[in-house]
Amino acid sequence: MNSAHRIANLPPYLFAEIDKKITAKRAEGVDVISLGIGDPIDPTPDNIIKVLNEQSLNPDNHRYPSYFGMKSYREAVSRWYKKKFDLSFDADSEVLGLIGSKEGIAHISVAYVDPGDVVLVPDPGYPVYNSGTILAGGVPHFMPLTPENGFTPDLDAIPDDVAKAAKLMFINYPNNPTSAVIEDDFFKRVVDFAKAHEIVVCHDFPYSEITFGGYEAPSFLSTPGARSVGVEFHSLSKTYNMTGWRCGWVVGNESVIEALGRVKSNIDSGVFNAIQYAGIEALEGPQDIIEKMRGIYKKRQDIVVTSLKNIGIDVEPPKGTIYVWFPVPIGHSSASFATLILEEAGVVISPGSAYGPSGEGFARIALSVPDDRLEEAMARIKKAL
Ligand code: MLT
Repeated sequence: MNSAHRIANLPPYLFAEIDKKITAKRAEGVDVISLGIGDPIDPTPDNIIKVLNEQSLNPDNHRYPSYFGMKSYREAVSRWYKKKFDLSFDADSEVLGLIGSKEGIAHISVAYVDPGDVVLVPDPGYPVYNSGTILAGGVPHFMPLTPENGFTPDLDAIPDDVAKAAKLMFINYPNNPTSAVIEDDFFKRVVDFAKAHEIVVCHDFPYSEITFGGYEAPSFLSTPGARSVGVEFHSLSKTYNMTGWRCGWVVGNESVIEALGRVKSNIDSGVFNAIQYAGIEALEGPQDIIEKMRGIYKKRQDIVVTSLKNIGIDVEPPKGTIYVWFPVPIGHSSASFATLILEEAGVVISPGSAYGPSGEGFARIALSVPDDRLEEAMARIKKAL
């Protein structure tokens, strides 16, 4: 059967491909350690699970949820922004519930991109920025993130005709996969650029709480003028170890929220209410999980950074995210290194090139296994080299 032209250029999803490799290796009897996907091994806090259990028993919650997220959930998101960033958002017009931020990121292109329109995509970047663009018939224009530019896009390097044709720009700090954070006026420059070229900015912010050494990640929407050009995507996945729950949101520019809500209400029927109640508990219940997870990830980060140093790869300990991004040893490509590590060590890492052409020469380790398994993985990598 012939599939639609629109999926001809759509690559298979990176982590679905990695899952296939893991399954095949495990079928061969290999004790695979996966440092591929950023999927916390640590459990969702009990108070959140308790709310899900209670709410799941209420028949009112068994019916269709609101298309836009329950009002009480949107209000909780709005209160979270007020408390954390002193920003006020109207829960009705400036907040929209999502089935995880990935879903909203994929659908925003449906709302804004016509065939042939350009979308500015960080390279390397979370694969969905690219695939959502392709699904909408858009043309991704990669903005290289390199060590030389602090892994932030060089906006002056975007050609004028590209900027003119661009409808959306994706940015993401703390950054996946490079772990870079924002420490200068980059967001301000993005606002100016977006205003000059009438571009909608989509800031992807799922690692806002996973920061180290006293660094606190700024919201893009704290930047003066940001609300007139953009939105911010977020999710409960990484902060509260809730990747499997699929519960996120987008906040910001009212007309963008309306457009994405219109797309979504025609496609999905929202998140199970009991999960949204659990989401409210996540945002407004005890927050000790945040410091706890920062400590856990810092320890794992130290294990990886020290082990890499021992094999001659020097990286600065990242200030954010659950990843370590590093240059592969000389003589290897990203793919050849990841393949060697899988074949010789039974360890899965993500090749940097899978995140875009500028990821070539790098690889990503996710800090998503317990310390002892991480130590074993790093020892196996050392031995394989
Ligand atoms: C990652 O590992 O980069 C992402 O968390 C995976 C995903 O969201 O699909």
